[in-house]
Amino acid sequence: MLRFLLLLCLACAGWGASAQDKAPAVQSVQIQDVRPDASDEPGYAQQSNAERGKVQPGNNAPMWRQVRNRWIIPYGGALLLIVLGAIALFYWGKGTMALHGQPTGRMIERFTPFERSAHWANAIAFTILAISGLVMAFGKFIILPVIGTTLFGALTYVLKNAHNFAGPLFAVSLVVVIVTFIKDNLPRAEDFQWLARFGGLFSGHEVPSHRFNAGEKVVFWLGVFVVGLIVVGSGLVLDKLIPDLVYERSTMQLAHMVHAVATIVMMVLFMGHIYMGTLGMEGALDAMRTGYVDETWAKEHHELWHDDIQAGKIPAQRSTPATAPTVQA
Ligand code: HEM
Repeated sequence: MLRFLLLLCLACAGWGASAQDKAPAVQSVQIQDVRPDASDEPGYAQQSNAERGKVQPGNNAPMWRQVRNRWIIPYGGALLLIVLGAIALFYWGKGTMALHGQPTGRMIERFTPFERSAHWANAIAFTILAISGLVMAFGKFIILPVIGTTLFGALTYVLKNAHNFAGPLFAVSLVVVIVTFIKDNLPRAEDFQWLARFGGLFSGHEVPSHRFNAGEKVVFWLGVFVVGLIVVGSGLVLDKLIPDLVYERSTMQLAHMVHAVATIVMMVLFMGHIYMGTLGMEGALDAMRTGYVDETWAKEHHELWHDDIQAGKIPAQRSTPATAPTVQA
């Protein structure tokens, strides 16, 4: 009998306690409220996921830190270096693709002032974002040991703000770039021949293409459109700019990982684009700088586009020039 009463008392006490526990548990949707001082625990930053779960239930930051530090940072960094090395080797072996024929002095407008403004706004924003992003992700391992915590703290503070200001410029100019260039990047039958023969990379005879070749179209659809929009979308989540989204810890962790992976893919693709637009091909940068290319350049690199212009199907001059185009030497 005594044993029965004791058990009854224990059961009542247990029931009472669990009913009391429920109230704060329901209130503490913000998991930090469970143990606001948990971060004061010795070795808090080194806790495993299981240990963190005990002091802050639902906080799986240690797992995401491992994903970042063990996967994204080392493999992402290695990928960037490998691609950079491959491009350097390619340049070393092949050099700049020079024009074979003589320039005619007759110029074709390749990019209007509007197209160039959109492109350069986007490219400048991209460069600021890439440099600041790389320093924030990898600087801890490379720059911090050299310049120390005070300078590195100041540097990352400035770069983080630069990143946050360049982000919206990149997002807006990306949409303008997509709308401006989408028409001439639509796939055409000739693109398959171009891809099958790698654009003539190994034969030495460039495969004829329209205004943009299939390589440029792959960068456009994959790098600018798909990955570009993922980068911008995840960036907007990180900036908490998407209305009505619940910005809890898991949302930010996921957005952070998506952003990191997508930006690495984007940088890899754009390293190829920037190489071809600068060192890789003679005259390409002039096209984006001045807006004009020589007829010989058009014939050698985009023969079908050149033929359409000669046939009068596409105007050689699309914008109203402030001054007559200068003749290239
Ligand atoms: C940061 C340095 C960059 C440089 C030096 C550069 C250079 C160039 C050059 C020279 C061209 C003309 C190529 C041709 O005539 O066929 C071009 C075209 C283009 N660039 Fe860039 N670019 C840069 C960054 C970017 C970025 C960040 C984006 C977009 C996210 C971008 C998107 C485009 C697009 C859409 C075209 C038109 C060709 C196409 O649709 O494939 N560029 N760029």
